[in-house]
Amino acid sequence: MPDTPVIDAIHARRSVSPKYLEAPGPSPEEIHAMIGAACAAPDHGHLGPAEFIYVPDDMRDALADVFEAVAMEANPDLSPEIRAQARERSLNGPCLLALVVRIDEGNEIVPASEQWLSAGAAMQNVLLAAEDFGYRAKVVSGARVRSPVMRAAFRLEAHEHLSCFIVIGSATGKTKERPRRTADQALRVWAG
Ligand SMILES: Cc1cc2nc3c(=O)[nH]c(=O)nc-3n(C[C@H](O)[C@H](O)[C@H](O)COP(=O)(O)O)c2cc1C
Repeated sequence: MPDTPVIDAIHARRSVSPKYLEAPGPSPEEIHAMIGAACAAPDHGHLGPAEFIYVPDDMRDALADVFEAVAMEANPDLSPEIRAQARERSLNGPCLLALVVRIDEGNEIVPASEQWLSAGAAMQNVLLAAEDFGYRAKVVSGARVRSPVMRAAFRLEAHEHLSCFIVIGSATGKTKERPRRTADQALRVWAG
């Protein structure tokens, strides 16, 4: 079966570490289009579980303060180097989006698991749209996204989860090939 342009684009997507993502990043119009693509994800009950928060350039330092505070929360005796590394994680890459997933736990028709799946599909649409505009991206998380300090910085309510950050930009250097499962590994036939 020959691949189609969409299937080729899906296979060609490669995550690039935020350290190797530089300007230019997406324009406001391109970011808008990426979030529009996210809104085309399957969404049972139209609950809109995925919300994307753009961190503007002039707020990156304030977010670096939060990343440092999160690191200090885990270990107050961190060296200046490790604190600087924690800050750096929020400064890498020209475009930073946070993905907040809002789960309606009490929904009688759409269980939380379906809402998470929908948010994941929205995330993937952002990645594919970013690549379609010629950028590379990476989804990153770590324990920091669940930290109380981080949650407070994003003013999250109990049913809201900072699930990850999406860093988008232009790749410097070669992209890394990571092993992926094949269709034969992921597909089986129901035998009753
Ligand atoms: C929600 C989510 C969070 C992730 N968090 C991290 C992370 O903190 N660090 C990391 O190296 N990879 C993380 N990954 C995996 C990478 O984004 C990436 O998918 C993986 O390295 C495989 O590379 P590929 O996308 O090019 O196949 C995360 C993926 C998802 C979906």
